[in-house]
Amino acid sequence: MFTYLTEHTRREGAMLEEYVATAEGTQSKALAYLVNLLVEDEHRHHRFFNELASSLKSEAELSGVEPVIPRLDLRLVDSADLLATTRRLLEHEQSDAAELKRLHKELRDLQDTTLWGLLVEVMQRDTEKHIAILRFVADHAKGN
Ligand SMILES: [Fe+2]
Ligand SMILES: [Fe+2]
Repeated sequence: MFTYLTEHTRREGAMLEEYVATAEGTQSKALAYLVNLLVEDEHRHHRFFNELASSLKSEAELSGVEPVIPRLDLRLVDSADLLATTRRLLEHEQSDAAELKRLHKELRDLQDTTLWGLLVEVMQRDTEKHIAILRFVADHAKGN
């Protein structure tokens, strides 16, 4: 697992360099803009992989060092409070999702001439991700 993570980090690093070179080498502002969006994400993936490898290492070595990725300690929080908060945030994300869906429809005519619809799609996917994170918290708050 540790080898897998470090190997993957190396490959992600190489891909990141290629993305950066593409963004820097192109005449197209649209291409550079889009590739830079990927670069932002890949930087975060890179960080996640490093943190996974490091946390795996500190857990395996039983060194007493706090892992970079915190242990699942949601039981330290009052579960009723946590559920109320996550429900409120989930509602907010769901209304964001509905709004983005409407916006995406409105931008349909511009789909072949602008990047706007694509950016809205990216935000729709981000919103799905936010909902997944909040659901994870809500599910584990109940589990206490
Ligand atoms: Fe990645
Ligand atoms: Fe969100």
